Amino acid sequence: MQTLQTTSLQVRDNQLWILDQQALPQQKNWLPAHDVAQLVGHIHALRVRGAPLIGLSASLLLALLAEQGAAREELAQSLEVLRAARPTAVNLMNNLDRMKLALTQADFVFALGQEALRLVAEDRQLCDNIAEAGSALVRPGSRLLTHCNTGGLATAGVGTALGVIARAHQQGKVTNVWVDETRPLLQGGRLTAWELGELAIPYQLITDSMAASLMASGQVDAIWVGADRIAANGDVANKIGTYSLAVLAHYHHIPFYVAAPHTTLDRQCASGRDIPIEQRAASEVTGVAGSFGSVQWAPETAAVFNPAFDVTPAALISGWVLDTGVVTPEAVAAGVFQPSADAR
Ligand code: MRU
Repeated sequence: MQTLQTTSLQVRDNQLWILDQQALPQQKNWLPAHDVAQLVGHIHALRVRGAPLIGLSASLLLALLAEQGAAREELAQSLEVLRAARPTAVNLMNNLDRMKLALTQADFVFALGQEALRLVAEDRQLCDNIAEAGSALVRPGSRLLTHCNTGGLATAGVGTALGVIARAHQQGKVTNVWVDETRPLLQGGRLTAWELGELAIPYQLITDSMAASLMASGQVDAIWVGADRIAANGDVANKIGTYSLAVLAHYHHIPFYVAAPHTTLDRQCASGRDIPIEQRAASEVTGVAGSFGSVQWAPETAAVFNPAFDVTPAALISGWVLDTGVVTPEAVAAGVFQPSADAR
């Protein structure tokens, strides 16, 4: 396969490499993801993370394994192992459905390679389309709040919600970005803060518990988040803490936007209640670990509840900015989750 480089994925010497998102921003380590066990390990540990990136990394690995001579049956098994690596982000399943179809082609080695590269190219374009549509909704002088990490690290392109923010900043419309740390795994504090710094976009890091008082004091003009799965009725699963922000935004009359590619849509899920929510290890809540070290502050025996995502009901969302256009609350209330031409 040709050499390929995104912010956090690399194909070189016909092998896949990933930028360790758990070690960022203190360390920039490119790690091998040369077989299924390695990549699944990276996905479990969130060294590879973000809905679009998980799907793209799995697709690229399958294509590379095919090039290295893996048999069709072996690839079919690997595909199912990769599909089960994380349950909530549907991009993984959507991308692998396309790879599964390529695997049925007579020349499946060629077909898998072409499909994986097409998925990467499409993701770049999707991000650009989202940034274009979303930035049109940002008012001049905006102070925006974002949650988790939805930037170049999590996609093959400029990102989703963070791509919108970056484009709006280029257009001179963003005064400040409030970055919440996103406990327990700190994707905001570690990754979004780093990306905004690289892009020279002004931001201030806050703890998750500070968002409410910022909204109450009129210092947040809009909230932009990504999505891991959007149900047919517009309910959105995203990083834990998204729902709290949506409730707060509703109370304070602040627009709350979701930015995502159409590969995040799951029309098989009638509502958010049907979206599987990943439960994660207790150690993520009883302490914190990263390249900065590790510490445990809770009792060894503490009982823990650690869902990785929550569901925000459609009624709390001001707009769904997709690569295909903007879905309005009016369309969703009418039972039609489709972008409307006049949404902007
Ligand atoms: O657990 P993570 O870090 O993979 O969760 C990521 C998110 O919730 C993002 O908001 C979502 O995947 C969109 S990334 C463009």
